[in-house]
Amino acid sequence: MIIYINDKPCEVAAGDLLLQAAQRHNAHIGCICGGNGICQSCFVYVKEGAELLSPPSDEEKAFISDKLFQEGGRLACQTIITGEGTIRVLTRAENLRRIVIGLNVPGFITYAQTIGFNVVTKLPGGAANLVSRVREGKLNPLDSIGKIAGGLQYGAGLAVHTVMEAIPVLQAPVALVSGALQGSGSLLSGALQAPVSLISGAAGGIFNAASGMLCTVSGGRLSLPGSTCTSGNTPQTKAVESVTIRVK
Ligand code: FES
Repeated sequence: MIIYINDKPCEVAAGDLLLQAAQRHNAHIGCICGGNGICQSCFVYVKEGAELLSPPSDEEKAFISDKLFQEGGRLACQTIITGEGTIRVLTRAENLRRIVIGLNVPGFITYAQTIGFNVVTKLPGGAANLVSRVREGKLNPLDSIGKIAGGLQYGAGLAVHTVMEAIPVLQAPVALVSGALQGSGSLLSGALQAPVSLISGAAGGIFNAASGMLCTVSGGRLSLPGSTCTSGNTPQTKAVESVTIRVK
């Protein structure tokens, strides 16, 4: 069946991941973290056919506010096409581009307010979700860094493809640049292996430290150093419910 990503028709089948379907057709959906549910660059608005998609994952619930869900917000790297029918999605970047090109000032203000609200309300929950996944072994910092390198390489390739599609006369010179980019991407990937191995142990420690700090904000509760707190899914401590500050 055909779905539409930024109005571009893409052939898909039930069971396809929305992000992979877009990548197969060079339909632009960002994927900086390589589909790990970290970066939100794959955020899309589902304009039609939401009922033909898998329910929101825990990662989406952690990062997307109710308001954005109501507007059709989903992470394409977490969303599976489950049914047959018409699906239309608009990426966040394309949505913003249309607002700016259309000089839609009220639309821009509403967009900025919604995104700002989402960041403020979902940042602690999103960060706690990341820490929890690392602790449970569902997210490997080493693997994630490798996927980020792959995501950047894919983004560069997509940009080249888009330029070639839009301006045929540039096809020859751009193909040369593309080859160079591919080579440098592979070199970069290889070069990253050693440093990534070195820092992977450190990354685990940083995540644990961040986890401790998160206890102070998770769920709007405050936990003091030395006490345990509720972080992720497992209640580990008693958090301080309120703090009174008196000014003399
Ligand atoms: S959250 Fe990063 S690619 Fe989906």
